[in-house]
Amino acid sequence: MTGTVGAPVVDLTAPLAPLSVAGRLARLRAALAAVGTEGPRPEALVVTTPANIRWLTGFTGSAGVLVVTEDHALLATDGRYRTQASEQLGAAGVEADVDLCIGGVAAQREALAATASSAGAVGLEAGDVTWSAVHTWEEVLAPRPLVATHGVVEDLRVVKDAGEVARMERAAAIADAALGTVLPLLHGAAGGAALTESAFAAALEHAMRTHGAEDRAFETIVASGENSAKPHARPGQRVIRAGDPVVVDFGATFDGYRSDMTRTFCIGGAPTGELATVFAVVAESQVAGVEAVAPGVATGDVDKVCRDRIAAAGWGERFEHGTGHGVGLDIHEGPAVGAGSTAILQPGTVVTVEPGVYLPAVGGVRIEDTLVVTDTGSRPLTRFPKDVPV
Ligand code: GLY
Ligand code: MN
Ligand code: MN
Repeated sequence: MTGTVGAPVVDLTAPLAPLSVAGRLARLRAALAAVGTEGPRPEALVVTTPANIRWLTGFTGSAGVLVVTEDHALLATDGRYRTQASEQLGAAGVEADVDLCIGGVAAQREALAATASSAGAVGLEAGDVTWSAVHTWEEVLAPRPLVATHGVVEDLRVVKDAGEVARMERAAAIADAALGTVLPLLHGAAGGAALTESAFAAALEHAMRTHGAEDRAFETIVASGENSAKPHARPGQRVIRAGDPVVVDFGATFDGYRSDMTRTFCIGGAPTGELATVFAVVAESQVAGVEAVAPGVATGDVDKVCRDRIAAAGWGERFEHGTGHGVGLDIHEGPAVGAGSTAILQPGTVVTVEPGVYLPAVGGVRIEDTLVVTDTGSRPLTRFPKDVPV
């Protein structure tokens, strides 16, 4: 059990049920059968996006290509992953559904081409393949025509199953606990101790590892004072001082799944002046956005709820990013939660709500939670309180 300042008490060591990916290949085949393209419909898909390969097979190696036809699937990778690949396919429950080719480039290409030979046209993941890779695939798969596909697997990943949500909940709990662990450093800074943004970011990332993260979810943001007005500032050597707003935007990765949370602290006491109003308006906007997240709601409407609150306070021009995004195996995935987004939230979708206001030379405030859509509304995965004094 972990009980640290400000963080909810959660057991970060309880084992999670194994993640089964069985059934996902069948869903991909159904999606491929329905894919609309300008050219011929693809009867096979060459999956090159690592997160998509992982989602479909459980394989996490850094090199590998999966080809899925209407009745076969083959994962090709090299000898470094001989043991890992068969173990991971077995653990994911798909060893009977996915053939393995372990070998050099020529052997892999031969096996991939042989598997794809039953198909007419073959799809490539347009968002992942480079220009030169397209030419290579043309040679490898000739004479089959290639078709660009867009987000076929990514669309399937939008709704998470219970095992995926459990992993994201664990990642979020690890991040909550880690922030609680390092919060005393901010108290120290309020008292005059030297603490740079970079040192605080490093301590936070170390605490996430200590609490069970396999990695951070993305490059941690710690932005203090005037730096907080830059939404994606990199932590640097600026010393965090009393009176500073400090934007802390970070997340953990657990078993491949990520969390994303932002808290903005005011060092050494409640904010004053214009900054006090910014804190209040962003907090109100974020709560309203969280309350708007529910099944059947268009993500653009969640954005509008947040944006309208900030615009009403006169800072519409100072909220220059989207309200949120999906999270999962990738830190940014579908659906987008932005102005005019038409994606409809469904139970199991995981999204962030993260409005912010940034006033150059004054400071910025962003508050962000990761939420899972439920049958009736939403449930926060990130739970660190938003009003902890430092
Ligand atoms: N810093 C990444 C995000 O919040 O989207
Ligand atoms: Mn974030
Ligand atoms: Mn985010």
